[in-house]
Amino acid sequence: MPNTLNKELGWSLIDYNQEDFPLGKIIEDNLLDFLLTEHNTKLYSLEDIHLNQTVMLNLESIRQKMFSIFREDEFQSCYKNFGKYLIDTYADKNALIQKTPTARIQPPRFMTTSFHSDAWYGHSKSTNSFWVPITNVSPNNTLNMAPSREISDLTMNKLTFGNYSLHEINEICMKITEPTQAKKGQVLSFGPDMIHGAKMNTSEFTRVSFDFRIVNSEEDLGYKPISNYFKYGDLTQVVQNNVSNKIDNQKNQKVDGYLSYSNSCLGVNPKSQLMLCASVAKDKNLSIQRNESEIYVFDHLPVLQHYLGSETPTFDGVIVFSIGIFNERKDIAEKILNLAKKNSKNILFSAEDILFSKDSDNDLILSKIN
Ligand SMILES: [Fe+2]
Repeated sequence: MPNTLNKELGWSLIDYNQEDFPLGKIIEDNLLDFLLTEHNTKLYSLEDIHLNQTVMLNLESIRQKMFSIFREDEFQSCYKNFGKYLIDTYADKNALIQKTPTARIQPPRFMTTSFHSDAWYGHSKSTNSFWVPITNVSPNNTLNMAPSREISDLTMNKLTFGNYSLHEINEICMKITEPTQAKKGQVLSFGPDMIHGAKMNTSEFTRVSFDFRIVNSEEDLGYKPISNYFKYGDLTQVVQNNVSNKIDNQKNQKVDGYLSYSNSCLGVNPKSQLMLCASVAKDKNLSIQRNESEIYVFDHLPVLQHYLGSETPTFDGVIVFSIGIFNERKDIAEKILNLAKKNSKNILFSAEDILFSKDSDNDLILSKIN
């Protein structure tokens, strides 16, 4: 995104109209409503959520609720409009935007993530990050960033060649960073080489924010899969055909769909397995008809075989957590892959992001089993 950034600073502030893009209001309304219905807690502002003990005991579940709000239609529609606005203003139509932002909640006296640059986490050179506070923020609870690209680069060099511990990296970064100026109604945009992070929240208010990334083109995604991103066309469809899309979606809802499946896979608890399956299915626009767990006393995965067999013709296939569901049994994996092929059913391996179909090579999966 060459036009957003002040090249010397490495960051810039963008004002946006909160009435045109009520991102914060959608999150706040839904989150406060969730606190009332699920936790019997009436609050009036997200800045005060730390005042309630129940909320503090369930902070991670509240952050997860924020992620689920991000995936709902109300937020997605507004977010896509906003993404289109940013790309129209600052980039070109080759740009892609992350499908789901990351949620951050930082109550008073809490730390959050360590200091870092986004490039350290596999984001490419043309990736621009956008940080959006949805509560009022002050220097005591906001994001901190290197004040200029030069200072960030010098520090990065020192860190890269210094063999420092994480604690030392944080100490060094804290010294060179400063509180950013972004306010509610503004977005802070910054480059992948800019060091940033949050110090302990020493204010009396909780900070809630979210962040997302826009990348110049699909040739420059770094280590990130393209399934994480919307292309420009995905954004315009919604803006122009919001209503007709809804009608089309209703028309297209088929009886067919997928089974979401869990078993003893790698010791991951079934609920977490199904959560990943649901989220990847949503990304890929696959509908889930039903959830099922395997019968644990058998090795041959009879439930999985049933839904890949000819006796369940209304299923397009099965969505599973990972290749780990085969419990390292190549013989069982091969039998199941062949069964799926024979019945023209698909298997989506969520963790590896592989959609196995009739035309896939079995070795694609088998080579990943020890
Ligand atoms: Fe970051």
